[in-house]
Amino acid sequence: MTKTILRALAGETLPTPPIWMMRQAGRYLPEYRATRAEAGDFLSLCYNSELAAEVTLQPIRRYGFDASILFADILLLPQALGADLWFVTGEGPRLSTVTTADDLKKLKPATDIHDHLAPVYETVKILSRELPDETTLIGFAGAPWTVATYMIAGQGTPDQGPAHALKAEDKATFEALLDLITDGTIDYLSKQIEAGAEVVKIFDSWAGSLKGDDFVNYAVKPAAKITAALKARHPDTPVIAFPRGAGDKYVGLHEAIGADCIALDDGVTADWAAANVQTGGCVQGNLASSHMVTGGDALVSETRKIVDAFKGGPHIFNLGHGITPDADPENVQLMIDTVRGS
Ligand code: CP3
Repeated sequence: MTKTILRALAGETLPTPPIWMMRQAGRYLPEYRATRAEAGDFLSLCYNSELAAEVTLQPIRRYGFDASILFADILLLPQALGADLWFVTGEGPRLSTVTTADDLKKLKPATDIHDHLAPVYETVKILSRELPDETTLIGFAGAPWTVATYMIAGQGTPDQGPAHALKAEDKATFEALLDLITDGTIDYLSKQIEAGAEVVKIFDSWAGSLKGDDFVNYAVKPAAKITAALKARHPDTPVIAFPRGAGDKYVGLHEAIGADCIALDDGVTADWAAANVQTGGCVQGNLASSHMVTGGDALVSETRKIVDAFKGGPHIFNLGHGITPDADPENVQLMIDTVRGS
């Protein structure tokens, strides 16, 4: 029997939506914190295939999610392209910056990333051997715009200001950087699929700061190019696109991107998205991750509302964004029980 997530991605309406959770392997879980301490730091964990596979499996063992997502990070690709990358505890990622044509020239060609990323492909191979038969394995990468925002600023930014500035001041360098990331992402996801990923997801966490034509040119078009190239190489592998913060621009994205599923953040209501986005195909989402911290009746009623709103079409239950480190693992179980009606 085909796995539930693959059935939903193929357009089937299921009586109970399959479920997984963004950042399901993460700091809210004591077993994750223990394995991360064993690895030393976050990046060492990402590049240790055995331990990365172990933390990927932890939430599957604990909760029996319908999918697992490869444990890695969207910023491993810039590192493979030659950027320096490190994580400052309590603050987040830091990278060497790309703000000039000269900086861009120092990066490697998109085809030269695979030696560096070999441990990620090995993690995928281990997972495809060790996951339960019913669990789908999802690979992922960052979308070019989101990855570029970190490469240009050298860190996370509240408004993606430095990336918007480069776009305005040196469009040629900005677009060449996006092209390089786009080409690298196609090859990176393709290798994940060849190693055993059954679905891939493109995370565009900062798509919401692109307005008007910029949204079309720098969020939709790169995602469409990646999707088309993957479909040419791996026609049977579904693609989930997550242009977070798209708001009313979520309408029509299945078609514009060519994706099998559009993931929704919690900035749109499930009722609105059922009427305006799910009409185009499978949707994923979109419970506010704050419910994993606060729990209680509100968690149950919001979860039911989302399941109910999307029950007329293909739906994968998920949060609207990643679970946060302060979440209570028991609230995750309550969400799953509510979705599954048990
Ligand atoms: O979802 C999963 O369980 C799979 C693994 C995964 C991670 N990052 C592990 C991680 C995935 C899919 C990502 C994607 C990612 N990484 C995104 C896109 C999704 C999103 O959240 O918007 C972005 C923007 C990043 C970049 C990144 N990685 C930042 C900004 C940070 C620091 C913020 C934070 O949460 O600490 C990370 C670190 C990171 N990536 C952690 C994890 C589990 C926490 C690191 C730790 O253990 O200290």
